[in-house]
Amino acid sequence: MNVKKFVMSFVFPITGLALLSESSVANNYHYDKLPPPSIDSNFYDNGNPAEAKVALGKFLFFDKILSGNKNISCATCHHGLTDTGDGLSLPVGEGARGIGVVRDTGSGPDAIHERVPRNAPPLFTLGAIEIDTLFHDGRVEIDATQLSGFSTPAGDDLPLILENVLAAQAMFPVTSATEMAGQMGENPVADAVAAGNLAGVGGVWAQLADRLRNIPEYVSMFTEAFGITADQITYAHAANAISAFERVTWRADNTPFDRFLRGDRKAMSKSARKGMRLFYGKAGCSGCHSGTYLTDMQFHAIGMPQIGQGKGHGEYGYEDMGRASVTGDADQRYQFRTPPLRNVALTGPWGHSGAFDTLEGIVRHHLDPEMSLDNYDCSTEPRLPSRADLDAHDCFVMNDPALVMNIKDANELGKKHLSEKKITYLMDFLHALTDPNSVDIRNDVPRRVPSGLSLVD
Ligand code: HEC
Ligand code: HEC
Repeated sequence: MNVKKFVMSFVFPITGLALLSESSVANNYHYDKLPPPSIDSNFYDNGNPAEAKVALGKFLFFDKILSGNKNISCATCHHGLTDTGDGLSLPVGEGARGIGVVRDTGSGPDAIHERVPRNAPPLFTLGAIEIDTLFHDGRVEIDATQLSGFSTPAGDDLPLILENVLAAQAMFPVTSATEMAGQMGENPVADAVAAGNLAGVGGVWAQLADRLRNIPEYVSMFTEAFGITADQITYAHAANAISAFERVTWRADNTPFDRFLRGDRKAMSKSARKGMRLFYGKAGCSGCHSGTYLTDMQFHAIGMPQIGQGKGHGEYGYEDMGRASVTGDADQRYQFRTPPLRNVALTGPWGHSGAFDTLEGIVRHHLDPEMSLDNYDCSTEPRLPSRADLDAHDCFVMNDPALVMNIKDANELGKKHLSEKKITYLMDFLHALTDPNSVDIRNDVPRRVPSGLSLVD
């Protein structure tokens, strides 16, 4: 927990020179320092992974060959047409059809069994070395005490050749029944998941590697990217390639804010600069959204509404205890990782369960979490494809005052008053975090994939 660091930064403020040199600011409050600008060396491989790996990773990311029933790819939930997320509060996993807000819930025997319990996060700036902790609860993170270099749910089963934490993450979506593998009895990958066999002979990762080595175009791409022969291909190589693609394609560090940090004082509008001063000052955002990528990589409870079926935690099995479920520390209940904020204006819905469908909604939530929880309208706000049996679970937590009270009790954000005008400035600053190169990323989508499977969901 990092409350101390957060509080300290306001008790003993560091004066941000760049901030104070701005004119027309009422200097009656303290400022956090602005972060250093984003540079190549902040990224793995100096931001420049080998092209052969990137090309291979791009195909793999969009290829349904990595899913048990060959009906869903990474891109389904992290698409270039939906700003590397899926546009929904909670994703619809394997079995459904369509992408983005028109994705359905499947039909007949293929219909989905449940919603994916957490929002699909955007993938911008994740190649930065500072981003050492992934997932809303941080269950994949760099950990020098582990043989593999990473702490993950796979423990000692994790292969030893993973090049970075983003590659370690890419080992897991294929092992989730709901996301990509499918249900037991539907296919051998799903059966291996059900048997808990990820890394063994005939396990999930070995089966996927087999599929890839049987596609000649992939074999030559693996050879080019890693200098290996068909029989040496492992799923960990695929994960390394996927990571290379994600890192270079969605780097997103040429926003007006980035250009401002590099010295172009006119890169942001006047009102965005005022918003920045609020972010690093009175509004207190940089207490958690700190560092070049606007995250402290720590966990905080900010009283977020909980929608969907949650992670099966708590008295009724509808809650999501966040970080506490990884560490077992009850003091960390309802804490989630502070998300990085590049392109945040593009990547709704927001929050770990996608509870807010507008950016302004989640910003206002931060200013008074308790009131926001009281006013949250679970019947209209979530962006979810409707199906009666699924809908029946969506508002379980929000409809139970005792469960909402637990969320409030854990909240660590104090109430803050900002005038409407100041909120507008803050919003303008958040919009200055949009990289012009990320506005149109249709070209990040390949026209075909080597398996020959359809790119249409
Ligand atoms: C069915 C939807 C779905 C599919 C398919 C999917 N993801 Fe995700 N992804 C999610 C969700 C939901 C989370 C957050 C889960 C959590 O935090 O518990 C996530 C988290 C991530 C993260 C962590 C982001 C962060 O900021 O911590 C990365 C990276 C990622 N996915 C990449 C991939 C890759 C690579 C694949 C394919 C191998 C993939 N995803 C397939 C839904 C999906
Ligand atoms: C106490 C730490 C803390 C402070 C202070 C804080 N945030 Fe956050 N913020 C978080 C956490 C944690 C989340 C994720 C919560 C979740 O997913 O449940 C978050 C989420 C967000 C999101 C949604 C991002 C996404 O991708 O879903 C935005 C936007 C945001 N914060 C903006 C702000 C602004 C603006 C301020 C200042 C008014 C601020 N935050 C202050 C911790 C903080």
